Amino acid sequence: MESDFLELLVANERVGRWMDILMDPFQRSRHKFAITQLQQDLQRGPSYIEEANRMGVTQVLTKLLSQTSPVAAELRGDEKTMEAVSRIIAACSGPMACGGKVSSFTYDGVTVHIREGALGDGLGAKVWSVCHIMCRELVRHPEIFRGQQVLELGSGTGLVGLVAAAAGAQQVVMTDYEDQVQQFPVILANEVMYETAHAQLVAAAIRHRLAHGGRALLCCAVRDQAVFDMFRDSCRRWGLRYRVLRVAPNAEDLGGIRGRERDYEGGFLLMAVDHADAPAADWHRDDFEPVA
Ligand SMILES: C[S@@+](CC[C@H](N)C(=O)[O-])C[C@H]1O[C@@H](n2cnc3c(N)ncnc32)[C@H](O)[C@@H]1O
Repeated sequence: MESDFLELLVANERVGRWMDILMDPFQRSRHKFAITQLQQDLQRGPSYIEEANRMGVTQVLTKLLSQTSPVAAELRGDEKTMEAVSRIIAACSGPMACGGKVSSFTYDGVTVHIREGALGDGLGAKVWSVCHIMCRELVRHPEIFRGQQVLELGSGTGLVGLVAAAAGAQQVVMTDYEDQVQQFPVILANEVMYETAHAQLVAAAIRHRLAHGGRALLCCAVRDQAVFDMFRDSCRRWGLRYRVLRVAPNAEDLGGIRGRERDYEGGFLLMAVDHADAPAADWHRDDFEPVA
């Protein structure tokens, strides 16, 4: 979830601070302090351990302590410091260190388990809050994809695709930067328009990957209205029909960060896209509005 991203950013900043000191020979006088602080921070949770592992804390400490210098000898001779070092190494190789926590998400009785990756693995390593709006829409309207072949674009962890699979899709192909040559009757995409370039890329991907008579359902937070205006124009150029429905997330969808809705100038949208000359016959809802 995005809140995990924020936690990871804080973990990255804190662990990075102690690692900078430990790797700087000019800050030797602060090494003991950095080791103690680092050990305390690692108790804050798996994100801190994840970041410490990513930054190679075990290798850095091992190298530091194996030096022949008097400073290293002093560190080795200090019982409190060595106790902290062994706790750090134990934390970085223990069960909490296996990378990413497993979260379970349930939508109207459909449960999916996701192991999220590390921050360094990219934006798709985390489940994005808006996913929950999309997943709820899917389990409430499985007729969108029941028995069909589904393509998920920019799947990240794949939560949307897995929910579609669990709720009745015949087959789900989840892609994130992969090239797919085939066409699909259903395309799903969640939170794939957060940069200007995405407006054209997503419209082009739908144009080429959506079978005639097929439907694409997207869900996004509107961080920058201009991107969505561009998407509307791209859809028009590609001969795609584009309609939207404003949706309100549940408070818990926003990762417990209050006032989060206000971060998004255009709120949250469900978007229905199909070919203008071969529209999907039976959309699951009739309240999508054409965009002028
Ligand atoms: C904000 S994340 C959303 C991930 C997931 N759909 C979710 O809602 O949790 C955007 C995803 O789009 C993917 N992505 C970004 N640009 C892409 C591109 N040009 N081609 C394919 N995937 C892309 C990223 O790798 C990332 O997984």
